[in-house]
Amino acid sequence: MNSLTTALPTVAATDRYRPEFHYTAERNWLNDPNGLVYLNGTYHLFYQHNPFGPDWGNMSWGHATSRDLLHWEEQPVAIPCDGHEAIFSGSAVFDEHNTTGFGTLANPPLVAIYTSAYSEAAPLAGRQAQSLAYSLDEGRTWTKYHGNPVLDRASTDFRDPKVFWYDGDAGSYWVMVAVEAVQRQVVLYKSVDLKAWEQLSTFGPANATGGVWECPDLFELPVDGTGDSKWVLIVNINPGGIAGGSAGQYFVGAFDGVAFRSETTVTEGLQQDDSRMRDYRWLDWGRDYYAAVSFGNVPDGRRIMIGWMNNWDYARQTPTGGWRSAMSLPREVSLTRVDGAVVLRQEAIDPLAGLDAEAFRLDAKPMASGLMELPTPASVARLDVEFRPGTAAGVGLVLRAGDDQRTLIRYDTADGMLRLDRRESGHVDFHEAFSSVESVAVPLQEGRLRLRIYLDRCSVEVFAQDGLATITDLVFPAEAGTALAIFAEGEGAHLVALDVVGR
Ligand code: FRU
Repeated sequence: MNSLTTALPTVAATDRYRPEFHYTAERNWLNDPNGLVYLNGTYHLFYQHNPFGPDWGNMSWGHATSRDLLHWEEQPVAIPCDGHEAIFSGSAVFDEHNTTGFGTLANPPLVAIYTSAYSEAAPLAGRQAQSLAYSLDEGRTWTKYHGNPVLDRASTDFRDPKVFWYDGDAGSYWVMVAVEAVQRQVVLYKSVDLKAWEQLSTFGPANATGGVWECPDLFELPVDGTGDSKWVLIVNINPGGIAGGSAGQYFVGAFDGVAFRSETTVTEGLQQDDSRMRDYRWLDWGRDYYAAVSFGNVPDGRRIMIGWMNNWDYARQTPTGGWRSAMSLPREVSLTRVDGAVVLRQEAIDPLAGLDAEAFRLDAKPMASGLMELPTPASVARLDVEFRPGTAAGVGLVLRAGDDQRTLIRYDTADGMLRLDRRESGHVDFHEAFSSVESVAVPLQEGRLRLRIYLDRCSVEVFAQDGLATITDLVFPAEAGTALAIFAEGEGAHLVALDVVGR
């Protein structure tokens, strides 16, 4: 092991990890995306933020805005913590019909529904309950509702409300999905004014239960763009994720305005063992896509999600200075049928769209066994590659290589698994849980494997087979780590095409 991987980098050196196309706060800590909502041409990203330091604490809602989901402008802290409460995760809705009375019909409010995590000094010391704040100036300034909290179950782990407007056979009202985190249960409520809530149902425990359930979401999507639709319930879990630590699972099913019925439950109740983990549905099979939730109010029924690109296992130790943690690229999600099963497909909003003319390209050719270095560096880039592994034992890419470091993406023909190996990716020693290999089963399609990969200064996001499986991982390579190669192990593989945009 060389000195680079053992010594923690200095603050100045770590600025090279500041992403170019992922959102970070200018300074200090962030975690979950909160209050994702679209209004009048602007996407609002609120987020768990410590305004006073690069570690978790003083939880408040930070705020950033964007018109294209890629270029974000940081705004003043939206909802700051105070001596009585920390402002934990939640959502925001555009209350167009002024059901809350916080605004007027001419100027309806944006309403944030957040978790009040009460301090020891508060009358509800130690509890978590749901509260409201509203804005009459498109999210610039916020006022807490004097009647807070609006929903209190005398619980210490009741949090992360996601609210949407339901309009269906059962009526028209607001629906809240939140969690009883320790019980691994999603709780559903309804309201007509966001202030008075009535319980509808509960869901869970089901499938992965090896950690607390957090940050749920519930939305309807057409299947393959047809009139047929299903509901998707998102349940983030920490620890107990598929790759260790934090991750997001999802269920597909039906919601009748009262209860969610899953069609993808494999195991019910609290599981003692992990043997069915790979049969559960995961939003991402990597280690760094957590607390993922979707935007509300987006035109044309588009469903766009963002995750926190980190993992509670080591989030407090990631070797960046001054700022800590980034958001994932936003992902448009849809439902598609694969071999009879309805599954999520995810496509990142492409930060390098329109630059195809600048791509480095390789056309179809047989691959000799071994490594083929490419004459183009790639550290902030989009890579599209398609392989036909054929009779080769494996094919893949070497990313961010240099200084005895590399990140490997390898498809193994024998077991049909795609793996991301970051054990030698650079700084891996800042936490014992960081060095890891992630894997997901990826069936070839007509003998082919298609990968789209986004590289940024400290991350790799892999979308396999047009987004049917994804792996998101942080990496902290040395500055020299920009070399790129493809490889085959054994004879018989073909490169179908390779396109690299970036540098
Ligand atoms: C998820 C989470 C939420 C909570 C927030 C606190 O990462 O633990 O459950 O509301 O972070 O920052």
